[in-house]
Amino acid sequence: MTTFIAVLYIISFALFIYGLMGLTGPRTAVRGNWIAAVGMGIAVIATLLTPGMSNWLLIALGVAIGVVVGVPSARKVKMTAMPQMVALFNGVGGGAVALIAWVEFRTTEGYAHEPAYVAIASLFAAIVGSVSFWGSNIAFGKLQELISGRPITLGKLQQPVNALVLIAAIVFAVVIATGGDAELLMIGLLVAAGVLGVVVVLPIGGADMPVVISLLNALTGLSAAAMGLALDNTALIVAGMIVGASGSILTNLMAKAMNRSIPAIVAGGFGGGTTVASGGSGEVRPVRSTSASDTAIQMAYANKVVVVPGYGMAVAQAQHVVREMAKLLEAKGITVAYAIHPVAGRMPGHMNVLLAEADVPYEQLKEMDEINSEFAQTDVALVIGANDVTNPAAETDPGSPIYGMPILKVNHSRSVIVLKRSMSSGFAGIDNELFYDAKTSMLFGDAKSSVGEIVEELKAL
Ligand code: TAP
Repeated sequence: MTTFIAVLYIISFALFIYGLMGLTGPRTAVRGNWIAAVGMGIAVIATLLTPGMSNWLLIALGVAIGVVVGVPSARKVKMTAMPQMVALFNGVGGGAVALIAWVEFRTTEGYAHEPAYVAIASLFAAIVGSVSFWGSNIAFGKLQELISGRPITLGKLQQPVNALVLIAAIVFAVVIATGGDAELLMIGLLVAAGVLGVVVVLPIGGADMPVVISLLNALTGLSAAAMGLALDNTALIVAGMIVGASGSILTNLMAKAMNRSIPAIVAGGFGGGTTVASGGSGEVRPVRSTSASDTAIQMAYANKVVVVPGYGMAVAQAQHVVREMAKLLEAKGITVAYAIHPVAGRMPGHMNVLLAEADVPYEQLKEMDEINSEFAQTDVALVIGANDVTNPAAETDPGSPIYGMPILKVNHSRSVIVLKRSMSSGFAGIDNELFYDAKTSMLFGDAKSSVGEIVEELKAL
């Protein structure tokens, strides 16, 4: 039986890796997801076949709760609410690891009679799993706007408090590892780690959330892998390492894209900046507004148009009509490209997925570094529901929460037209100087309706 289980695990790992390869492109992503899900199904069956498995009623209850909660929420979730969903599900994974570590602690009555590696791996898993669970819940609350998305800090006490709870968690772990078997020690460890998760994520605000979510994902993977080591469960080790490694790579890429350093994240000096939104003085400044017909005319006489999509395009589901507009422009001999900022939208690759869904040719999607040098030769930059990723304050205002984040330099184009519904701020909650630039016109309205009107005007020209 043990060999049979090992073979099932190996099949499931192969499917995880093959599925993951599919996730590297939008066209193969759905198939990749299915393949990885089948792999996970096989891993679950293999685990259930483990000799000595009992408590079938409890297991069935757990599966039933998971299905009843998980399936409808995953089906119903809107694409734009996906990051919160990921944060929540990820947090549940970390929480499960922390609980398993607790159960193991109770079963073995401390670690005095266990090998050192089991104690170290379990305690690591308990701390990191608890940090990840509570941190992910705070991230969920911020993204769902249940709590303020702005940095919530303890001011000067922030770093000392962070250090104190981290030290407390480590002290509990050392006492347990060296023979302490009182259950209160384990509870103290889980609570200290939980508080650490909360105080580390609460000060994150502005545009820095994506890096944190990715970091929490990586932590959940690492905690699962450590727990697998302690329990001698290969499935947990491999699946945890895949999540931990890919999450770490993604965190690194995102931090680079946001011009932040990962040590600064870990040290808690992250997302600090000012808590006061620039331009928040309440003064009303004039902007120039335009119409769909003027926008259509301006683009029809351009040589080059760059579409700059952002979160608002996802909310409006405007990608198909944007593609239709681009086809009309191309038919008039105008060059069209799409400027993709790495954190536009609310999840990595958000814009790529939406535009791929609308069959935009891949070669027209230009990464930030490539397109930034092209804006100077661009006649019209059409900003569709993007805000923070175009905000010049990231380059010019050292007091801005997004200062230092690389942006799409749309203000280098000859003219800029911004499609959004109002003068509201984006995710970072700050005003955007771009809207007041002499080159900028605002086309107010829902992006899908506005682009639809532009399409009609272009057809009529
Ligand atoms: P945002 O700065 O969030 O701005 C989106 C804009 O879209 C808003 O100002 C909003 O203005 C407009 N909008 C919303 N619904 C619309 C609709 N139906 N039609 C037209 N416009 C609409 O978006 P961005 O520029 O894509 O930047 C992304 C931000 O999210 C960054 O701060 C980033 O750090 C953060 N973030 C990113 C991720 C990832 S991984 N991509 C994850 C979490 C957070 P109105 O309300 O006036 O219409």
